[in-house]
Amino acid sequence: MLVTSALPYANGPIHLGHLVEYIQTDIWVRFQRMRGREALYICADDTHGTAIMMRANREGVSETELIERMRGEHLRDFQGFGVEFDHYGSTHAEENRELCADVWKRLREKGLVVEREVTQLFDPVTQVFLADRFVKGKCPKCGTPDQYGDNCEKCGAAYAATDLIEPKSVYSGAAPEVRSAPHYFIRIEDMRPFLESWTQGGEHLQPEIANYLKGHFLAEPLRDWDVSRPAPYFGFEIPDAPGHFFYVWFDAPLGYFASTWQWCKKNGASLDDYIRSSDTEIYHFIGKDITYFHTLFWPAMLEASGLTTPTRVQVHGFLTVNGEKMSKSRGTFVKAETYLKHLDPAYLRYYYASKLTDKVDDIDLNLEEFQAKVNSDLVGKVVNLASRTARLTPRLSASYPEDEGLFAAGVQAGAGIAEAYAKCDYARAMRLIMALADRANEYVDRKEPWKLKKQPEREAELRDVCTVVLNLYRQIAIYLGPVLPGLAKQSAELLGGPLDAWSLAESPITDVPLAPFSHLMQRVDPKKVEQMILDSREPESETQAAAAPEVASEQPSREPFAPEITIDDLGKIDLRVARVVRAEHVPEAKKLLKLTVDLGGPDTRTIFAGIKAAYEPEKLEGRLIVVVANLAPRKMKFGLSEGMVLCAGEGEKDLYVLSPDSGAKPGQRLR
Ligand code: 2FM
Ligand code: ZN
Repeated sequence: MLVTSALPYANGPIHLGHLVEYIQTDIWVRFQRMRGREALYICADDTHGTAIMMRANREGVSETELIERMRGEHLRDFQGFGVEFDHYGSTHAEENRELCADVWKRLREKGLVVEREVTQLFDPVTQVFLADRFVKGKCPKCGTPDQYGDNCEKCGAAYAATDLIEPKSVYSGAAPEVRSAPHYFIRIEDMRPFLESWTQGGEHLQPEIANYLKGHFLAEPLRDWDVSRPAPYFGFEIPDAPGHFFYVWFDAPLGYFASTWQWCKKNGASLDDYIRSSDTEIYHFIGKDITYFHTLFWPAMLEASGLTTPTRVQVHGFLTVNGEKMSKSRGTFVKAETYLKHLDPAYLRYYYASKLTDKVDDIDLNLEEFQAKVNSDLVGKVVNLASRTARLTPRLSASYPEDEGLFAAGVQAGAGIAEAYAKCDYARAMRLIMALADRANEYVDRKEPWKLKKQPEREAELRDVCTVVLNLYRQIAIYLGPVLPGLAKQSAELLGGPLDAWSLAESPITDVPLAPFSHLMQRVDPKKVEQMILDSREPESETQAAAAPEVASEQPSREPFAPEITIDDLGKIDLRVARVVRAEHVPEAKKLLKLTVDLGGPDTRTIFAGIKAAYEPEKLEGRLIVVVANLAPRKMKFGLSEGMVLCAGEGEKDLYVLSPDSGAKPGQRLR
């Protein structure tokens, strides 16, 4: 197996959002190895593009100096979290240049490359072409200032950067010029038959991803993909097109292979066995924002150039912290480095594992839950098994005692746990493991070994109880091994034998001396969590000014898709037509209007809706609207709110109440 995580950009630090993926992949690779599979875990820094070039320029260093420094930081952070790559390369490597040239040649030969003029904004001060995310100006539709060149965050309009009003380069602040230059494109549409079968075959992608591609991209002709950028650009010059460079997203995924190649060179292996062989399975772990690069462009490139296409692209959602986007001003944009100054990485590995499923849903790091879960599961249930028994006996019994079938039940549970890991449903694996820990704890509670310890004549009994509990603990530590390799290692020392293979959980150990017990894990110190957040806090204004060009990628922002739901989920929401009988201001409320609505029944209902900035109350009276009718009533300062009004839009002013066509009747259910 060749397994990869997405290559992090070399222009920013690793943060807790990145770590969802690296921890997810690291767990999977460790699991596969424990099961006896041969798995190579490969990653690299993604180093090319305008952002790196401009940053190096600003800092007065060369690009290679900058990417060397970032590489050191990234490696330090990954190591800190126990993310262990077999090789960590860089896209700025000769191996990658060669692979790019090779693939390019094949795409040319297949007639998939076309040339076209592209008009783009050009910064006359820094002399660079500006990708859409590097131009800001007023939205051509609604006039909101400070919007990026691809779409408006306020009104959602999508437009070309050249349409922005009063555009400014984010680098120099200068007004850009419009210039045109030839670009090279790949005709992805020509690969449609392959892409339809590869994406829709049910084998390589999660169903929600396959559906998303079908509905969004494959539903219309695939647009040609622009893979070149005119000089100046930090990257690889296209061999047969001097003055033109491969776009960062062309060479980045090939970086997976370039890094593999470096590993092969170091280890006397052949690259062909990995990238031109049907014996190797390729697994890419990525975040949902880069889905189309990995599920359309990348497989198309590989197929067209005769390379092995991925066995699976596994997509995860974004990280939110306390239910919101990570934010520098709230201190929830936590860098890996900052976390490690305050907290044990094992906590985060376990917490993420307990949240990660095989779905594309976003995962939330709720800091309260984080502490509660680590304390109750890891410290309270798992580690507690060892700390309550390992000190009570110097040695395990000579033969494995009667244990009420607990160990055998643990062996049986192993298959389901393994299946959950393999599917990337770690949340389920963690639940199954904690159920084993619960049963083991219940056994300890009943046997009360600390009482036996006080009765010397019952020493043999005590030893048997400890033997059972420590064997159950050992089984659990093995099952948790992919998530908590450190704990497995410490436990191996305690129990005097390795815990690094799944099959070791099938038979108990006996008659071994126990090493002196040392603490395996501390409870989470809430003060340290608080301190980590305080350390991560940056004032709003500064962050916005300084961070924009650094963190922005050249990748356009795209509409994220909500997690897929089933028809049963939908059925839970009772949407009804209602007529607004009365709409009034609530004098003390800044955002709310009080609506009295007729839902077709004998009584009217009151709804407080946050639409005051968008509507004069009299405009709403008499109007048909749509409400969520079965929302639990909410007590507000001004009275009870008995539903919610459906609106489109964002913010406070830019809101549009949804109405059915006339003819709909109050009380009718939406279907
Ligand atoms: O989105 C990102 O952070 C990119 N640097 C990921 C690249 S993944 C691969 F294609 F190289
Ligand atoms: Zn707008």
